[in-house]
Amino acid sequence: MPPPAPPTGVFPQPLRLAGNGSSRQLRCRVLQSPLAGVSDRIFRGLVRRWAPDALLFTEMVNATSLELGFGVQKVAGLATETGPIAVQLFDHRPAAMAEAARRAEAAGAFWIDINMGCPVPKIARKGGGSGLLRDPDLAARIVAAVAAAVELPVTVKTRLGWCGGSADPVGFARQLQAAGAQLLTLHGRTREQGFKGGADWAAIAAVKRELRIPVIANGDITSPEAALNCLAITAADGVMVGRGSMGAPWLVGQIDAALSGRPVPATPTATERLELAGEQLRALVAAKGDRGLLIARKHLGWTCQGFAGAAELRHGLMRAATADAAHQLLARAAAALQADAAWQAAEAALRLPQP
Ligand SMILES: Cc1cc2nc3c(=O)[nH]c(=O)nc-3n(C[C@H](O)[C@H](O)[C@H](O)COP(=O)(O)O)c2cc1C
Repeated sequence: MPPPAPPTGVFPQPLRLAGNGSSRQLRCRVLQSPLAGVSDRIFRGLVRRWAPDALLFTEMVNATSLELGFGVQKVAGLATETGPIAVQLFDHRPAAMAEAARRAEAAGAFWIDINMGCPVPKIARKGGGSGLLRDPDLAARIVAAVAAAVELPVTVKTRLGWCGGSADPVGFARQLQAAGAQLLTLHGRTREQGFKGGADWAAIAAVKRELRIPVIANGDITSPEAALNCLAITAADGVMVGRGSMGAPWLVGQIDAALSGRPVPATPTATERLELAGEQLRALVAAKGDRGLLIARKHLGWTCQGFAGAAELRHGLMRAATADAAHQLLARAAAALQADAAWQAAEAALRLPQP
């Protein structure tokens, strides 16, 4: 028998989190970020096609809504999905977060993540999401309460601080670590920045240097090159991809391949992207009825980019009153692309030198 091949890639070893009785191991160092209104079960299914081992997240789930029952669909059926899926929770009350974490654990979460970065005013004003950046003691109490409530690892996703002047990302991260957070994902922007400006990867590097627990770098990872560049600057234990994957569910898989030393899968062609858009629309309408069309519109807008006629197609899709009308537009765009390709092939043949 030949000896086993030596490990290759940027991270030869899996990432292990001990948990509090239930340990977890990640073979893939690219994480798909939680995206409210985007990272639902159907989106996760598409990402999974290219990234079988990546950690995916639910959309953020409000602890109270889980308790009252109307957030349940966000975690329902987790155990039937393939691959690791973490549940991200938000709230400002430690006891409610602990209870929600128990429910998420029972629903099949891979681990429990706590949102300490959401900038939405109605959440932050109550003290949840990025509001916790202004109350590190409460943030630490929430981590401790959740960690004591479940056997799974508990992680935190946060930002560099509330605003530039007051930001102390290292101090905040140390406090979360001491409270029991087993991994920290750091978005390299402050709450004040929202999504503007470039992510500060050097600031993530400074936090990584000071922590014992793994740090995942987040912000502006939009390609395999960006991921490698970010890892070179931050020395982080992995990267998390957010907006770059919207309309591009293949991106996480492409980055995983690049980090693992495997050939990077090709970006789907325009025709394949149109097929994917149609598939996502069909699945959303099947799962959510008429509301599925509304949800699908934004995905279709992101996916239908970068080919002749894409702008007109997007314009039509945003106005399509029914799913059937949207499917017809997609079919017409695919036929136009095919006709265009046939025309170009004929033209190229005519240009061939004659014997
Ligand atoms: C539409 C949208 C929804 C988001 N929802 C969440 C969320 O539910 N939880 C969370 O922690 N971050 C959320 N984020 C932030 C992203 O996860 C990520 O941290 C941020 O976009 C920075 O990464 P990027 O530059 O790769 O996009 C959201 C961002 C966007 C654009």
